[in-house]
Amino acid sequence: MSFITITNLRKTYQMGRQKVHALDGVDLSVAPNTFHAVMGPSGSGKSTLLYLLGGLDRPTDGQIVVDGQSISALDENALARYRRRTIGFIFQSFNLIPTLSALENVAFPMRFARVPRRQRALRAHELLTRVGLADRTHHKPTELSGGQQQRVAVARALVNDPQLILADEPTGNLDTTSGASIMQLLAELHQNGRTVLVVTHDPRMSAYATHTVHMLDGRIVSDAEYEAATAF
Ligand SMILES: Nc1ncnc2c1ncn2[C@@H]1O[C@H](COP(=O)(O)OP(=O)(O)O)[C@@H](O)[C@H]1O
Ligand SMILES: [Mg+2]
Repeated sequence: MSFITITNLRKTYQMGRQKVHALDGVDLSVAPNTFHAVMGPSGSGKSTLLYLLGGLDRPTDGQIVVDGQSISALDENALARYRRRTIGFIFQSFNLIPTLSALENVAFPMRFARVPRRQRALRAHELLTRVGLADRTHHKPTELSGGQQQRVAVARALVNDPQLILADEPTGNLDTTSGASIMQLLAELHQNGRTVLVVTHDPRMSAYATHTVHMLDGRIVSDAEYEAATAF
């Protein structure tokens, strides 16, 4: 059984007179409750793949089916609902709202899910406790370390209990210790039944991954092709 089926996925950007094929025919099947590490050199299409999968952008061509639902066919409202209910997205640069506290940042996505205010605060507090930040709920992002900010972002990604966690180089801006604690959190989510896709350059992530996907020039390549192309 497949949780995600990606077929002949293409994303082409027009840069002046030049076309950039960010994704050049990607096929991928992801079983439920797997942990995929997506690796590849800069510019190989990793972020583009994650963004399309997360419904943050639309493909030029091809199909994405998640949990039986064709994402490419959704209208704007349905796509917003998909992002809210199915996806938890974690960015390299945290993307927290600077004027809001940790608690308010985590509670923020629940506004759109029509959760009563008191319940939102309780849920946000519970998630911040889970990522080890129960004593930082009233801190603003600038009052937190990078590792703590990313833990807030992980808590925020989990607030609507998504089945699919997408993380784009979540440890890229963190020191080794903070990075390890974020990886540990992602591994826990996988153990708790979620499907996790992480773009990473960190070989330590492979210890948690059930699958490794190598990308090169907008395509998924085999381990052997990848090694041949990147060994120099
Ligand atoms: N918004 C955009 N406009 C034009 N080109 C883009 C855009 N986003 C990405 N690209 C190009 O698409 C390719 C893949 O980018 P990306 O998915 O960000 O790669 P990666 O995450 O693996 O570094 C790169 O050549 C990049 O320059
Ligand atoms: Mg990227």
